[in-house]
Amino acid sequence: MKLAVVGGGSTYTPELIDGFARLRDTLPITELVLVDPAAERLELVGGLARRIFAKQGHDGKVVTTSDLDAGVEGADAVLLQLRVGGQAAREQDETWPLECGCVGQETTGAGGLAKALRTVPVVLDIAERVRRTNPDAWIIDFTNPVGIVTRALLQAGHKAVGLCNVAIGFQRKFAALLGVTPSEVHLDHVGLNHLTWERSVRLGGPEGENVLPRLLAEHGDAIADDLRLPRPVLDRLGVVPSYYLRYFYAHDEVVRELGTKPSRAAEVAAMERELLEMYGDPALDEKPALLAKRGGAFYSEAAVDLAASLLGGGGSPYQVVNTYNNGTLPFLPDDAVIETQAVVGAHGATPLPVAPVDPLYAGLVANVTAYEELALEAALRGGRDRVFKALLAHPLVGQYAYADGLTDRLIAHNREHLAWV
Ligand code: G6P
Ligand code: MN
Repeated sequence: MKLAVVGGGSTYTPELIDGFARLRDTLPITELVLVDPAAERLELVGGLARRIFAKQGHDGKVVTTSDLDAGVEGADAVLLQLRVGGQAAREQDETWPLECGCVGQETTGAGGLAKALRTVPVVLDIAERVRRTNPDAWIIDFTNPVGIVTRALLQAGHKAVGLCNVAIGFQRKFAALLGVTPSEVHLDHVGLNHLTWERSVRLGGPEGENVLPRLLAEHGDAIADDLRLPRPVLDRLGVVPSYYLRYFYAHDEVVRELGTKPSRAAEVAAMERELLEMYGDPALDEKPALLAKRGGAFYSEAAVDLAASLLGGGGSPYQVVNTYNNGTLPFLPDDAVIETQAVVGAHGATPLPVAPVDPLYAGLVANVTAYEELALEAALRGGRDRVFKALLAHPLVGQYAYADGLTDRLIAHNREHLAWV
């Protein structure tokens, strides 16, 4: 089995490699191609990847290349994990929205829109080239904003599934708190990428006992601390929101806090310098502990699970993925992309039925879905008015004066990435 990773020179890649090595029985990779335009970084990451495989006795071949067409040729699956404009562009996304009193975040709000506008055309171009060389390959998209990017891919007719590590992170965390194995924990995970709630936590499968009330009673403080939300909010809701909900439920508090500290992009850039230096050390043959300070924990395990199922077997029976709604949430259009539990196989992902959603969550999900539709329009067709409308529709913006100020800044900071400016 051949896999290609576009954005393979990412400092995150050793996490992926470690998962591929540990889980080689589930996903028997014979050739792994890391594709990245940044040749120097790619060599550092590729070298470490080979050492990790060798140490763990994985006999798969690791190839590095900056030639996309050659890299994806013959691949059964192509993972996309790229960041257009790198941490520098992310730093902008996290900063200028604050000037308008709005949250600065790489996937939420105006920063997330900027990222979508930069990213969608690049990802569609890559996917088109993959399809030309390799029409049967599956595309697994980790590239943020995953909901909008996956919608763009599906709308263009690609064989694509979107993936994020938030759900698998909760599954692993809850399993540890409950003292069970992760595969025993089934989440009733509902919403959109980076806008989700765990409504129940069931043992053994979708019909199992709901242990969420027990988890909240016994471990509510720890769970609330992790999410940086007050414990009484979780108790009153009786659900566990993802940490991205903090940008909504505590928006003004977050804006104040972000104004007083360095951006996450700056922190990550410093970590990346340190990581790359470590990767260059020929004695290093495992993923360094420092990588755990990044947000991507368990993303390799989610990727192995999904790729194994898409390529014909071996993955978990149910997986949380991003795919077309197709009636799963009846209050959304069929072609909205939702993040949901699905049965995954060689045919793709089929969402499991979802119990009716409380208006408390459905309202926000519908609102952000409308924003995502307008954001995709803006990414595909460009134009100041489309950017403005997407921002006006966003629940964290909503007022024309904010939307105008943010639109001007978004365009000014992203000129080099927007073909229509
Ligand atoms: C989580 C999210 C990812 C995001 C990452 C950021 O893993 O699910 O979508 O890219 O956090 O982590 P970072 O270390 O770059 O801040
Ligand atoms: Mn994510």
